Amino acid sequence: MNKVLQGKTVVITAGPTYEDMDPVRFLGNRSSGRMGFAVAQAAADAGADTTLVAGPCQQECPTVTQRINVRSALEMREQVMLHIDDCDIFIGCAAVADYRPAETSETKIKKDGGDLTLRLIQNPDILAGVAALPNRPFTVGFAAETNDIEKHALRKLRNKNLHMIAANQVGNGRGFDCNDNALLLLYPDGRQQSLPCQAKCSLACRLVDEIAAEYKRLQQQHT
Ligand code: PMT
Repeated sequence: MNKVLQGKTVVITAGPTYEDMDPVRFLGNRSSGRMGFAVAQAAADAGADTTLVAGPCQQECPTVTQRINVRSALEMREQVMLHIDDCDIFIGCAAVADYRPAETSETKIKKDGGDLTLRLIQNPDILAGVAALPNRPFTVGFAAETNDIEKHALRKLRNKNLHMIAANQVGNGRGFDCNDNALLLLYPDGRQQSLPCQAKCSLACRLVDEIAAEYKRLQQQHT
């Protein structure tokens, strides 16, 4: 692979987050970490100093500079913010839980014969937080959508003030926990590019090439 990110520092989030209800139960999602790990490997292969902040997943670890394991969205945000200072490029591939239980019980919640109502509160948006930093890195988001992919992804691109978003179709066996994927790349100036369905590892290499090219283009505009 061409060393298109040689000398650059990249932070990537991957996998799901688990939001604990009590010592035995949690709210999670279907992310396996495959896509994020493939992007981390592609960034490392492209020469980047790569930090992977990973939620709970069983994938073989890519050969990155460092991997930091986290469980919840709050832990993921803490580790991202600890490592973001000298970062050139941030890629948010994790399926971060939008909500967490308002309370985490220290003991196992007991079945008491009736229904249980769980109150959820919003988690902070890690990606939006990175994009709002005064000295923000080149910030790339993902969008996991079951419908109206382009419309929803465009809204995330704009609302979170990103440099680029990679949208993918999820649900019915697509996107999550499978070996192949396809991406629609969207940019703030209206450009779009489709990366067709292929193995996540080759898709990740294509994505990293596109990220490197766009990063370089913006750097040149500012010199
Ligand atoms: O892990 P796999 O099984 O290989 O599946 C890959 C994938 C489908 C998980 C991946 O390709 C993907 O789409 N990742 C993003 C999943 C997601 O949570 O998308 P979203 O549309 O809900 O979030 C939009 C963006 O905001 C994402 O970059 C997400 O990381 C970020 N986010 C969301 C919520 C939050 N609280 N903090 C965030 O940073």
